[in-house]
Amino acid sequence: MRFLATCNPGTEDIVASEVSWEVSGSRVEWIREGAGRLVFSASGDERLVLEQILGLRSIHSAVLLLAEAEVSRGRGGLREAWRAAYESGIHSYIPYGASFAVRGVRIGEGHSYTSIELASTVGDAVQRAAEEGLGWRPQVRLNSPDVVVHAEVDDTTFRAGILVSGERSRHRRRYRVYDHPAALKASLAYSMLLLAGARDGDTILDPMCGGGTVAIEAALLFESSRIYCVELNRRHAAGARLNAESARVSSRVEVYWGDARSLEDLLGKDSVDRIVSNPPYGIRLGDPVDVRQLYREFMPSAAAVLRRGGTAAIITAETEALLDAARQSRLRLKTSRRVRHGDLWVDIVVLEKS
Ligand SMILES: C[S@@+](CC[C@H](N)C(=O)[O-])C[C@H]1O[C@@H](n2cnc3c(N)ncnc32)[C@H](O)[C@@H]1O
Repeated sequence: MRFLATCNPGTEDIVASEVSWEVSGSRVEWIREGAGRLVFSASGDERLVLEQILGLRSIHSAVLLLAEAEVSRGRGGLREAWRAAYESGIHSYIPYGASFAVRGVRIGEGHSYTSIELASTVGDAVQRAAEEGLGWRPQVRLNSPDVVVHAEVDDTTFRAGILVSGERSRHRRRYRVYDHPAALKASLAYSMLLLAGARDGDTILDPMCGGGTVAIEAALLFESSRIYCVELNRRHAAGARLNAESARVSSRVEVYWGDARSLEDLLGKDSVDRIVSNPPYGIRLGDPVDVRQLYREFMPSAAAVLRRGGTAAIITAETEALLDAARQSRLRLKTSRRVRHGDLWVDIVVLEKS
């Protein structure tokens, strides 16, 4: 079995690691860095593999890959995609009497067809293959279809298969009953925890926790960690508690209504192994100067509660300001990487207390 997985752009290598740890007999075949996609194969019991894939915390979607072919960018590409879809066996995954829809995606420039044309071409091929091979014609239903077929042209590679992860992106966790207006994708929270080097047993803190995404992901990942959340806004702090209850981890996530600029008063000096956080972005605050000020006041506070050798992974659109403030607090830059967050490319900066 082969799968196409999508994820947050910039985290493809993290997904590749999670796949290799969690999915039986898996081998990552191809990664499209910065575009949020990779292809991997897996072997073993089909149901177990699907269960393992649905348990992945870093992916956004997964497609059972049944067709892959080179196609042209010109109109002829549609004919080639039709042929590949017709021969792929996709139709045999649509149970008798069930409806289906094809979701088309085009990646790259210069195609002389649209994603809608691609979807309707693949839909036609699937119907024709079912009629000729199985003697019935599955109906297309665009809203709430029984089976969703994913079809994409990535530059000149056509890929299609069955969406096995559902249409709701996997980063939208079911536990989120309180929606923070600037919530972090749970898949990114997971990635940041790994980049911070967090391990089971660590004491982990999100000092500007909003609705608690980082803390809840940490609690779901690490059974014996102590996890703290701090949030200045009382409503968000209450929301983080609600989310933690909904995720059934409230006994292990302690939420404080407090200030990230005075963490030592709340938690004590040298008390935390990992800080993982998504402070407000300058762009969203409306004034980058505010963010600089926040970083200048937050960094000494973070450095005070971190143990020696402890790390802080911070996602920011104001990297230079963050690094300036970190230097003043004797936190040294360990690594940094670009990831896409909503419409922005931002940095996850990992700092270490030496
Ligand atoms: C981008 S949001 C965090 C969203 C969160 N990661 C989530 O997924 O819900 C930033 C949060 O930092 C909080 N904040 C801003 N300044 C703070 C401070 N000095 N101390 C604690 N929290 C603060 C804001 O109220 C806001 O909820």
